[in-house]
Amino acid sequence: MTSQYSTHWSLEPTRLFLNHGSFGACPDFVIAEQRKWQDLMEKEPVRFFEELMPGLLQKSRHALGEFLHCSPEDLAFVSNATSGVNTVLRSLHFKEGDEILVPNHAYQACRNSIDFVAQRWGAKVVEVAIPFPIEGPHTVIDLMKSAYTSKTKLVMIDTVTSPTGLLMPFEELTAYFESRGVEVLLDAAHGIGMIPLNLGTLGASYVTSNCHKWLCAPKGTAFLYVRKDKQKKIQPLTISHGHTFPLGETTRFRHEFDWTGTQDISGWCALPAVIEGMADLVDGGWEGIMQHNHELAIQGRNILCEQLNIQPPCPDEMIACISTIKVTETLLPNVVMHKPDPLHELLSEKYNIQVPVWSWPSPAGRYLRISAQLYNSIEQYEQLADALVNELK
Ligand SMILES: Cc1ncc(COP(=O)(O)O)c(C=O)c1O
Repeated sequence: MTSQYSTHWSLEPTRLFLNHGSFGACPDFVIAEQRKWQDLMEKEPVRFFEELMPGLLQKSRHALGEFLHCSPEDLAFVSNATSGVNTVLRSLHFKEGDEILVPNHAYQACRNSIDFVAQRWGAKVVEVAIPFPIEGPHTVIDLMKSAYTSKTKLVMIDTVTSPTGLLMPFEELTAYFESRGVEVLLDAAHGIGMIPLNLGTLGASYVTSNCHKWLCAPKGTAFLYVRKDKQKKIQPLTISHGHTFPLGETTRFRHEFDWTGTQDISGWCALPAVIEGMADLVDGGWEGIMQHNHELAIQGRNILCEQLNIQPPCPDEMIACISTIKVTETLLPNVVMHKPDPLHELLSEKYNIQVPVWSWPSPAGRYLRISAQLYNSIEQYEQLADALVNELK
């Protein structure tokens, strides 16, 4: 049986798509909305960029600010969470011996960015080993707190981890570190649209999130939130006209981030319609979507665990809308994380199932991650479980 919501997406109908988590997937109305803005841009490009763009982007920032419970003035558009993380890290200054804390479940691209910056300044990267399977959020809290020293200057925390699909206790950790003067960079790539975010009260110095994942917005739409007192020290990756514009009524932060060169801004223009249109699809609006996807992810995870006769690796409270299980105990030789795993290829070729599988060193094994979005259904996880039982027996 297919989901009642699947008609809103034009996903390949014969394919079982269980990987919303990697790049998202847009419903048809979102694609049409983006096209509308692209058409307008191409009809009269100069008018679009010089006259219409400031008002359009302001409207989108306002819609986002309302959704995230923060001032739109503290939000900048970036193309993706990797750029958001890089924007912060490459703006910051460290002293030799300063410590940057990061859990070992961090997304590798963002971890690379930390290593790159730490090396440049002579700072030390302190990796915090988080177990998986895990008993509960308190394990993360205890381990992260015990890694704190007087030299800790920055902590990067995920809202939801990529390799292990764990909903992190990011609110408690943010309060703990920020109250000690340690800046928190929240990697909320899996954030907006997946879990409630209240940036106005969270207190993090920096938050970046992908709208193209769980908000179902067009690709290349992400934001960077910078707390007001930190804005003076954060510059976009691209320095442009805004660096020297007369300030007038606005801030340097606004000037610098509002123009970083010519690019397709249609995805950002589409955001107000995306937020409203998605909410209209489900009873209960966005709260209803998050609850639906959360319950579906848990049901899907439980089906896989029962069929494969394994214990769920984390409590339900650490699941949002993605869930990871370990499918084999051993790493494959010469297999690198995020490169196609033979099991991924097999599920794709033989069963027409798109689901990520990767090797991960800690603890060693091969892991499979399911996603749950409105267009998915229970039967799809049952089909995946049958395929896995068949191949892993
Ligand atoms: C935790 C986390 N951070 C960052 C990213 C990077 O997202 P993007 O490729 O859109 O920059 C991802 C992507 O899956 C992620 O899961």
